[in-house]
Amino acid sequence: MKRHVQYSRLISAAKKAKTQAFAPFSNFKVGAAVLTASGKIITGCNIEVSSLSLTICAERTALFKARSEGHKVFRALAIATDQPEFISPCGACRQVIYELAGDIDLMLCRKDGKVKDLKLASLLPLPFFKSTFSS
Ligand code: THU
Repeated sequence: MKRHVQYSRLISAAKKAKTQAFAPFSNFKVGAAVLTASGKIITGCNIEVSSLSLTICAERTALFKARSEGHKVFRALAIATDQPEFISPCGACRQVIYELAGDIDLMLCRKDGKVKDLKLASLLPLPFFKSTFSS
């Protein structure tokens, strides 16, 4: 399937995943969808708990789900919110995306449907990686 078709399916999947967001404390709903090398799409949403720091972001839900289902190579990640501005992944998610997926394409989707494309490396210069302590 052509790249732009896969990417528009990925964006739709992230928007759909947003409808499952469980954000009773912030009401800030986020959906994410990751595209695997084999063309599969795995989705996730943010899930908040009353012990707030245990909340998980949509990006990590999607990537942890995908990795736990055996997917190891990823092409792109779409993130959808209901916000008027583009929302980019938090610092914790940037690190997790880098470690599990590398410098993949990111698509940030805001409420009016506009999409911003970027590469993870533009958000995470000089990343920490496990090779740092494997030598
Ligand atoms: N959140 C995400 O799911 N992804 C982001 O990129 C930013 C923040 C969630 C965490 C929390 O549930 C809510 O948004 C407000 O911070």
